[in-house]
Amino acid sequence: MEKTIDESKQGESLILEPKNENKRKLYIESYGCAMNFSDSEIVASILANEGFNTTQNLEDADLVLVNTCSIRDKAEQTVRKRLEKYNAVKRINPKMKVGVLGCMAERLKSKFLEEEKIVDLVVGPDAYKDLPNLLAEVDEGRDAINVILSKDETYGDISPVRLNSNGVSAFVSITRGCDNMCTFCVVPFTRGRERSRDPQSIIEEVNDLWNRGFKEITLLGQNVDSYLWYGGGLKKDFDKASELQKATSVNFSQLLELCAKTQPKMRIRFSTSNPQDLTLDVIETMAKYDNICKHIHLPVQSGSNRILKEMNRLHTREEYFELIDNIRRIIPNCAISQDLIAGFPTETEEDHKDTLSLMEYVKYNFGYMFTYSERPGTLAERKMDDDIPEAIKQRRLEEIVQLQREHSEIRTKEYLNTVVEVLIERESKKSSEQWSGRTSQNIVAVFPKENYKIGDLVNVTVTNCTSATLIGDAIGYSKNN
Ligand code: SAH
Ligand code: F3S
Repeated sequence: MEKTIDESKQGESLILEPKNENKRKLYIESYGCAMNFSDSEIVASILANEGFNTTQNLEDADLVLVNTCSIRDKAEQTVRKRLEKYNAVKRINPKMKVGVLGCMAERLKSKFLEEEKIVDLVVGPDAYKDLPNLLAEVDEGRDAINVILSKDETYGDISPVRLNSNGVSAFVSITRGCDNMCTFCVVPFTRGRERSRDPQSIIEEVNDLWNRGFKEITLLGQNVDSYLWYGGGLKKDFDKASELQKATSVNFSQLLELCAKTQPKMRIRFSTSNPQDLTLDVIETMAKYDNICKHIHLPVQSGSNRILKEMNRLHTREEYFELIDNIRRIIPNCAISQDLIAGFPTETEEDHKDTLSLMEYVKYNFGYMFTYSERPGTLAERKMDDDIPEAIKQRRLEEIVQLQREHSEIRTKEYLNTVVEVLIERESKKSSEQWSGRTSQNIVAVFPKENYKIGDLVNVTVTNCTSATLIGDAIGYSKNN
């Protein structure tokens, strides 16, 4: 489904170390993007102080929370099905309370309480700190709702518990909301205006993760390159900041450098980059530090200038190529991945061919591809007809997916007979004798375990591959281990 989220994680329930004094049981399940999974950790952290331990058994739960996604209609349908399941359990356990969190809560607000009789609690992405009050209402038998979006909430002061963690890689959220108003996208409506988190609290979290044995972090935001800290407040109000605030502000390349320098052995990733905000100094900072991973997720959505304009993506195809050329020049070994949408309103065969030819130019390492799904309230929904028939959307998507498959294979084969650095994350799903991890370029690699362990950074000679996975043998620890 969403980038950086493994399909198998969708709907995963989260669990953490129980506290003895906690008596109530929380079942929390997450859908959608990495930010939602990260937010669920914040929620679990808040509720751990409210007497809740987590459970993976729905039937045992006193409180069931589902962190939801609105990005495409299909994501919402998945959540509706889960609510039906909770409803069935509630018939056996009538004391169980059900809460909806995240983007669907924000989009549908009190409609949820009216439409879905089983829902007791509706909480938007900026209101999680209000959960203790809201739960007190629910305990007294009233429905509770808070969907207020905030100008400054970044949860910077909450140290998230790490749920179902492999103990090696963690998400660190750095911005919330999005100001871009891509015409197809519901995020600016569900997650509010863009604001950045205090670099001090980011660094404290990174240091804490390192001290607890973590080896890789992913800096998270809807649009990380737009990060700008000037003492708090909305990105759009930066103009009104004082001269001192402006002079001491921190942008994304500075934050990246700060993280890389503070923990020189911690691997650092980030996601997502909007091409219009990815600047040369970010690319140069990536090149300068070994511990910043050489992978950029650079969604393009379409290869047609006309469609890019209709989508309010603020760059042209030619500017995108220039950016790709710069990345390749400054970081020759950088992997690049995409998001693409097939069948945006008015898309012609010509526009679609432009998308295919853009893909040919870049030859992405991998990508996340979708058919257009009209979202209520977005600019595209208000101004344009969803006029591309489903069958055509599907056919175009298949052509895009097929081409990406070919490119992934070409890119993966480039690593044959080379040495790659792999951070071991887990046992391979296919064999208990093999480790699985990722290269700096974010490509999965598997190899025999020998005496290595989870969390080790190992050099691996690539001897074989599938279209998406490198297969090889470890030849020793990396110098960065
Ligand atoms: N900047 C965000 C993008 C969020 S949405 C991030 O950090 O993840 C993730 C992807 O979903 C987008 O890049 C886009 O390709 C896709 N998407 C968003 N809205 C969509 C819609 N209405 N229909 C189909 N795909 C959509
Ligand atoms: Fe959505 Fe565009 Fe922001 S895709 S999250 S409005 S960058």
